[in-house]
Amino acid sequence: MKHFRSLHDVKDIKALIRRAITIKRHALRNEALGRGKTLGLMFMNPSLRTRMSTQIAAANLGMQVAVLNAGRESWALEFNDEAVMDGEAVEHVREAAAVLGEYCDIIGLRSFAGLTDRAADYAETMQSAFVQNCSIPLLSLESATRHPLQSLADAMTIEEYATKLRPKVVLSWAPHPRALPQAVANSFAEWMGALDADLWITQPEGFDLATSFSSRARVCYDQDEALKDADFVYVKNWSSYDDYGQRGSGLDDWQISRQKMALTNDARLMHCLPVRRNVVVESALLDGPSSLVIPQAANRVYAAQAVLETMLTEMM
Ligand code: CP
Repeated sequence: MKHFRSLHDVKDIKALIRRAITIKRHALRNEALGRGKTLGLMFMNPSLRTRMSTQIAAANLGMQVAVLNAGRESWALEFNDEAVMDGEAVEHVREAAAVLGEYCDIIGLRSFAGLTDRAADYAETMQSAFVQNCSIPLLSLESATRHPLQSLADAMTIEEYATKLRPKVVLSWAPHPRALPQAVANSFAEWMGALDADLWITQPEGFDLATSFSSRARVCYDQDEALKDADFVYVKNWSSYDDYGQRGSGLDDWQISRQKMALTNDARLMHCLPVRRNVVVESALLDGPSSLVIPQAANRVYAAQAVLETMLTEMM
């Protein structure tokens, strides 16, 4: 793969998951592969897991890592090609991305959806500007519409904890005090669809994901019905795609509680983190035996390492 922006960049998804699981057992098996190579990580938005897991993965492969927090530690960027730059933005992405391409061998970029202009978000304008202006491979650290490193770690976690060949996986919407992007949910649905999982998506009416992501899932507006006999429950909030960026109100009863998990087949609980306790998920569940949120986050290292290892191998 040259870039890693979505599963469409991956030749064989199952092989990539197997690679990540193998790396987990032998994290330093390729510790010289990235020697002399630099991974640049550019964060337009905050991160704990993606930032640290990707740095650790790169170090396990012998790479140097340079991290930049855009806007705070570097110049505010302009993305509009026609802009008269007499405002806050000091540097155009055309120069910034080109310069990073000179310094680094792979560039990682985190750029969330703005949630005001759906067409711009779904065209991935920020990520595309980097790809167009930077000559090196791009590693998505979460874009406006997808979070593929998260989805790879999620798929790996399901593979590790599944007790049957085709478990029932339920992606459940949950409330949140702020409007969040659809990226994690889109990506999870896309990866589960490609893996032919028995995927159900449950959400209140008005919160359907774009059909390009959800078409292979069974969509159910009755959360209790969807949760019945589930083997995995992936909890996530996302704002509306149709009424773009709106978060809705009066939907607090969509929180995942012990009572709701009792409807499942003793399901394992998943969330990408960070999670707001007692808003999205009842805290007792996060602290209980069904929770996979910490192993899921731990797998982010091996997911990132599997992708970087593939990129580095194919660059040779
Ligand atoms: N799940 C995830 O991407 O976490 P961070 O936002 O902390 O990187």
